[in-house]
Amino acid sequence: MSTLFKHGALTRAMEAIVAAGGSEAREARLVAENLVTANLLGHDSHGIGMIPRYIDAVLEGGLAPNQHPRVNVDAGALLALDGNRGYGQVIGLESMQMAIERARRFGSCILSLGNSHHLGRIGQWAEMAVAEGLVSLHFVNVLSHARVAAYGGRDARFGTNPCCIAIPLPGEPPFVLDYATSAVAQGKLRVAHNKAEKVPFGRLIDSEGNPTQDPRYAVVPPFGAMLPFGEHKGSGMAIACELLGGALTGGGTWHHPESDHQRVLNGMLAVVIDPQRLGTAEAFQREARQFLDWLRKSRPAPGFDRVRIAGEPERETRAARERDGIAVDATTWKEIESAAAKVKLSPGRVNEIARGAA
Ligand SMILES: NC(=O)c1ccc[n+]([C@@H]2O[C@H](COP(=O)([O-])OP(=O)(O)OC[C@H]3O[C@@H](n4cnc5c(N)ncnc54)[C@H](O)[C@@H]3O)[C@@H](O)[C@H]2O)c1
Repeated sequence: MSTLFKHGALTRAMEAIVAAGGSEAREARLVAENLVTANLLGHDSHGIGMIPRYIDAVLEGGLAPNQHPRVNVDAGALLALDGNRGYGQVIGLESMQMAIERARRFGSCILSLGNSHHLGRIGQWAEMAVAEGLVSLHFVNVLSHARVAAYGGRDARFGTNPCCIAIPLPGEPPFVLDYATSAVAQGKLRVAHNKAEKVPFGRLIDSEGNPTQDPRYAVVPPFGAMLPFGEHKGSGMAIACELLGGALTGGGTWHHPESDHQRVLNGMLAVVIDPQRLGTAEAFQREARQFLDWLRKSRPAPGFDRVRIAGEPERETRAARERDGIAVDATTWKEIESAAAKVKLSPGRVNEIARGAA
């Protein structure tokens, strides 16, 4: 069973919960907008279902409301920031604003960001850069729990370490490749678990290391492990994200015993490039256009209507969900209501706002 909500009212309801958790109005709005946007784009794994975890993390002291990035190194095109364990929705926004300004000024910027709380959908940060005509690359590690096994291993050693590449395109919306290096995002397994659905083989092993279709092994103990995408290739990319996002940024890598902490910290190494400054702007536009036209002449494989590029599926989902509403399953909604109650906001009030009655 799920309920359909209009995105505007849903945003206001989530904003009220985050504000009740101690965030200033701007922060509450940014967190709510970021999460609801993930739902609108079809990434429910990084949508409002994160609210209970954020509230638990605030109450535990692992997520600090009302923080801003601290500048550790500011050397022109090199920027090293510390996220002060603040909401990633604010830390990510303010860090990228600085990186974009540097890339404009110097032609490129390498942004090292450690110690941010959950940055949510990484594509959001890349989209800020492409909106300014910049190319943006992101390597991210996750300090929370080990949930993904390395290629050749049968136990979890790191998180779902996302990476993202976004490229502005001539005459059409950008290419936004944005995914977890696990075969499936952990939040998608949580959603599948909440809906009592099975997942295809090849994504998960159980606590003994055997292949399983039961998403519980990614959600409740005894934990198994998720598998990286693409065998040794995805595993290598996940490890690169750990080394770049965790070690190089100084935010830290995962090598800790299991704990029941709810906080999720992200480290992110981002590279922002201004194509105008490479002296190849004309070729970039021409070659990108010619390649995409060529690519789209592909004959569709069985079961496909056409070849899409990254970013297109999200834009299609967004159009549908802005029109029809966002479906939230009953388990996720119950968890959100109890998160609200923990910060003394009545679930009745949350429902009222989310239904647009207030
Ligand atoms: N902050 C964190 O700690 C963290 C951790 C893991 C994942 N995430 C986020 O979770 C989100 C979801 O990750 P995911 O691994 O579930 O993503 P996914 O498997 O749904 O893949 C999404 C990517 O593949 C592209 N894509 C999908 N279908 C396509 C098609 N038919 N043709 C061409 N391209 C297609 C999309 O445009 C997008 O770029 C991402 O936004 C990621 O940044 C965040």
